[in-house]
Amino acid sequence: MSQTIRVRGLEKSYKELKVLRGVDFEVARGSIFALLGSNGAGKTTVVRILSTLLKADAGTGVVNGFDVAAQPAKVRESISLTGQFAAVDEILTGRENLVMVARLRHLKDAGKIADDLLERFSLTDAGARRVATYSGGMRRRLDIAMSLIGNPPVIFLDEPTTGLDPQARLEVWASVRELASQGTTVLLTTQYLDEAEQLADRIAILHEGKIIVNGTLTELKQLLPPAKVEYIEKQPTLEDVFLTLVGADSKDPR
Ligand SMILES: Nc1ncnc2c1ncn2[C@@H]1O[C@H](COP(=O)(O)OP(=O)(O)OP(=O)(O)O)[C@@H](O)[C@H]1O
Ligand SMILES: [Mg+2]
Repeated sequence: MSQTIRVRGLEKSYKELKVLRGVDFEVARGSIFALLGSNGAGKTTVVRILSTLLKADAGTGVVNGFDVAAQPAKVRESISLTGQFAAVDEILTGRENLVMVARLRHLKDAGKIADDLLERFSLTDAGARRVATYSGGMRRRLDIAMSLIGNPPVIFLDEPTTGLDPQARLEVWASVRELASQGTTVLLTTQYLDEAEQLADRIAILHEGKIIVNGTLTELKQLLPPAKVEYIEKQPTLEDVFLTLVGADSKDPR
């Protein structure tokens, strides 16, 4: 069984608003899976159900072999969740934040764990500085590092780079790739097509409560025929695929 996450027929409504109408997907161990969707598509709802923070109305979710409804404690031991708002303490240094979390989790060698993570996320030089002085990208990296303490096999990243500048996004992307290369299974949500394009082994588009496509970037691009402009073949971008499938009219009007 190489699927670390299995979701079948997931449904969820908030009062009369039907957000999820039968969501199905699987995520292979050690891979990066991007759940792509417009504002309000239900991405965070899926992540909250899989991280046991919210109950589904119907359907099943299995994470690391445990059912999210029947074995929530086991699921929680298997995951870490990083949301858009970093949970770092500004007054402490980066290293102190990491040491604090390692101690809270009753791990031995909290200092060594902190130093290893600082190095892995290119924060060694910044480790002794208060987080208040960090850039957005450094904070996000520290937040991801903190969520890795205890080596959870599965990590959920809900819009990991929203609000970051291009350089900071590249830094976070590098950290996420590094995670997956070490065997962590990553489920990330994003509204950024380039993020999915750059990072994900598989991309699924959540639209009107269902997964309307799910495949590798190459598979998704094959859904649209390449356009021939003069003698140069123009391959469709993921944005073309997304807008064709979702409909340009449902794009956020901001
Ligand atoms: N607790 C709640 N009560 C009522 N409605 C909710 C609740 N949480 C989410 N919703 C609604 O459910 C829909 C899906 O929300 P969700 O946060 O899952 O979307 P999303 O894809 O994560 O969006 P975004 O890209 O803006 O983060 C939205 O219309 C939202 O307003
Ligand atoms: Mg969201």
